[in-house]
Amino acid sequence: MPRRSRPKTGRTPSPAAAARLDAADVLLDKQRLLSEAQRIAHVGSWRQGRGGRIVWSDEMYRIHGVTPQGFTPSSESVQALIHPQDRTIFCEQLDMAFAGGGVADFELRVVRPDGSERQIVARTEGAADTAGLIGHLTGTFQDITERREAEAAVREAAARYRQLFETNPHPMWIYDPGTLRFLAVNDAAVGRYGYPRAEFLGMTLNDLHASEAVPSLSDVVKAMDEQQAGAAWRHRLKDGRLIDMEIIAQTIDFEGRPARVVLAHDVTERRRAAQDVLDSREALRALVQRLHSAQAQERARVARHVHDELGQLLTGLKLDLRWLERRLSEPGLPVAMYGLLDHAVGASGVVDEILAAVQRLAAELRPGALDHLGLAAALAQKVRRFQQRNDVPCTLAIADAVPVLPPTVADELFYICQEALTNVTRHARATRVQVRLDVHDGEVRLEVEDDGIGIDPDVVSSQRSLGLLGMRERALQCGGTVTVNAAQPHGTIVVAAVPVQQVQQVQQVQQVRP
Ligand SMILES: Nc1ncnc2c1ncn2[C@@H]1O[C@H](COP(=O)(O)OP(=O)(O)OP(=O)(O)O)[C@@H](O)[C@H]1O
Ligand SMILES: [Mg+2]
Repeated sequence: MPRRSRPKTGRTPSPAAAARLDAADVLLDKQRLLSEAQRIAHVGSWRQGRGGRIVWSDEMYRIHGVTPQGFTPSSESVQALIHPQDRTIFCEQLDMAFAGGGVADFELRVVRPDGSERQIVARTEGAADTAGLIGHLTGTFQDITERREAEAAVREAAARYRQLFETNPHPMWIYDPGTLRFLAVNDAAVGRYGYPRAEFLGMTLNDLHASEAVPSLSDVVKAMDEQQAGAAWRHRLKDGRLIDMEIIAQTIDFEGRPARVVLAHDVTERRRAAQDVLDSREALRALVQRLHSAQAQERARVARHVHDELGQLLTGLKLDLRWLERRLSEPGLPVAMYGLLDHAVGASGVVDEILAAVQRLAAELRPGALDHLGLAAALAQKVRRFQQRNDVPCTLAIADAVPVLPPTVADELFYICQEALTNVTRHARATRVQVRLDVHDGEVRLEVEDDGIGIDPDVVSSQRSLGLLGMRERALQCGGTVTVNAAQPHGTIVVAAVPVQQVQQVQQVQQVRP
């Protein structure tokens, strides 16, 4: 705050004059301090003599929205700034103070020249002179407009909150975190749980929990500490039925003490439906697994029949034809029979071709290489056939780190590869295909990548893509996954990944099997 500077006279003031000037400085500082304090506290002070002379502090001007330069306080001008409905009480209070002295507090409204209203707590005090007469009044005006507005906002928020609580369609309650006792419950809670309100308010949170799930107090407190939202509890209704409730809780101040407000969302049906979906998925998975193994067994059986029975019959036929050939080649055969020998030789050649076709068919029905040589050899055979049939270069890379896979995992990976390559043949229009078998981040990964036209992401996620679904189901059976993504710069990459840990587990299970 700038101090008043002393007049520069050119002469040094006498000690008495200097003391007077210091005293004036101190007085001025005190006045400034008082004015500052009034501004901060929104309290203005005034003084009014019997003759009507009125003196206002700076804050009085601010409260009334006027300035000392533009406004002179007088009985009339001051009254003009009092709200018309409060003028009478204001005048009566002044009259009473002049008549009897003492202190009086009352409220009134000031209307500023710009039309805005201020809420004032006023105090008057009459000071008697030596003759016992009230010569003048002093008083204060405290502007409490902001305080009142804040109070009103709090009241409004509380009323809105109460309404939200009372009319909420979901059960809500407030409980004491110390005792778990209910402090308030809404109509929806009363309706859903079936306890009359009075009974509810005599219960604790533990009375709601189904007996198998009663949380200890420390559980509840821990849950509170974690600000657990969306935690689900199993509750028991008054009639004994169980329901699943998802809880959202929040600490609030309730009638001056900390409490927890809870919104409970009934998820019984949703959970049941979700469980049903899980169950039916599980059943479907089991069915697919059974189908796959039945299919594999059936193929193996047919392959065996084809190979053994047809093979044997054809071999028998071949031996007969050989015998016929030999007999027809013996010397002395009539010339007319020469044609027979040609036919026998031709038929023998046809039987050779049929035998080769039967072996191919049997091999395709049940990839024998998989049984005898393992996945690597079976994949190599598959890749060779793919190249021959499609006339598209197809490479196979198998990393050394790939462990020996148990038959189930090897089977599933082989069939996944077969379906992926069939898809390439049917849909991709590729010019190059790569098949890789590797170990990455603890997973055995089979990748089939083509540089074809690519796959629509909607088709990938569609439940109707049975070939893709089958690949996923096969991977799932050995704890793995199949992902189908776009390859770079174009094409499709199918990745089947089975965790190595899973591979070892499958291996162990198979080893202990008798
Ligand atoms: N490598 C690929 N490149 C481009 N599109 C592909 C590829 N693989 C699959 N698709 C697309 O994804 C679709 C779904 O494949 P999916 O294997 O599920 O069915 P499908 O091959 O049409 O019939 P199937 O049930 O006989 O296998 C295919 O119809 C094809 O449009
Ligand atoms: Mg397919």
